[in-house]
Amino acid sequence: MTRDLVVPAASAGDDVSPVEVRLADVTADNWRDVVALEVEPEQRHLLASNVYSLAEASFTPAARPRAIYAGPRLVGFLMYEPGDTPEERHRVSIYRFMIDRRVQGRGYGRAALLKAIDEIRAMPGITTVSICYAADNPARVLYESLGFVPVDRDEDGDVIADRPLEGAR
Ligand SMILES: CC(C)(COP(=O)(O)OP(=O)(O)OC[C@H]1O[C@@H](n2cnc3c(N)ncnc32)[C@H](O)[C@@H]1OP(=O)(O)O)[C@@H](O)C(=O)NCCC(=O)NCCS
Repeated sequence: MTRDLVVPAASAGDDVSPVEVRLADVTADNWRDVVALEVEPEQRHLLASNVYSLAEASFTPAARPRAIYAGPRLVGFLMYEPGDTPEERHRVSIYRFMIDRRVQGRGYGRAALLKAIDEIRAMPGITTVSICYAADNPARVLYESLGFVPVDRDEDGDVIADRPLEGAR
């Protein structure tokens, strides 16, 4: 089996500026590393595992799974998808978002979310980005600081928060 340079999940002690955060496709070369990313044990209930998300994405043509890199290092994963009804077609929902537990708190999550918003803004016809989270998730502070406003609850009681996309096409 041929693989490109294997980029391990970042280890504690490394310091790459959030400025160097970028999103990339999940490919045959990096999917195993995406699966190996971890949240803290007490965060596990907050989202599906990455292996579940990649399985789901493989059967969901509209899903966009994205690997999060800080410089050369894989540090996280997120996934988004446009709505599939006429009423929801203008909205993209970010429904998976995680940074590896070893490198949380360094600004990578904020930088990755901003990159995702930029990608979504460039999608034709999309005017709103939405994120869903458990009401007690500390990440809500991050979402609110980026302009997400709670608008509803889903069937599980999770908060749905919207952010209008200025300059959307
Ligand atoms: C949410 C998550 C992706 C944020 O990634 P991160 O790289 O740690 O976040 P950042 O370092 O960019 O922090 C961004 C801001 O949010 C706050 N924040 C984010 N996650 C936080 C947490 N779990 N606890 C406390 N504060 C948090 C930070 O204090 C920071 O504030 P500041 O910019 O004013 O300093 C990460 O904590 C994670 O993977 N959590 C577990 C999975 C999860 O909850 N995903 C979201 C499901 S909706």
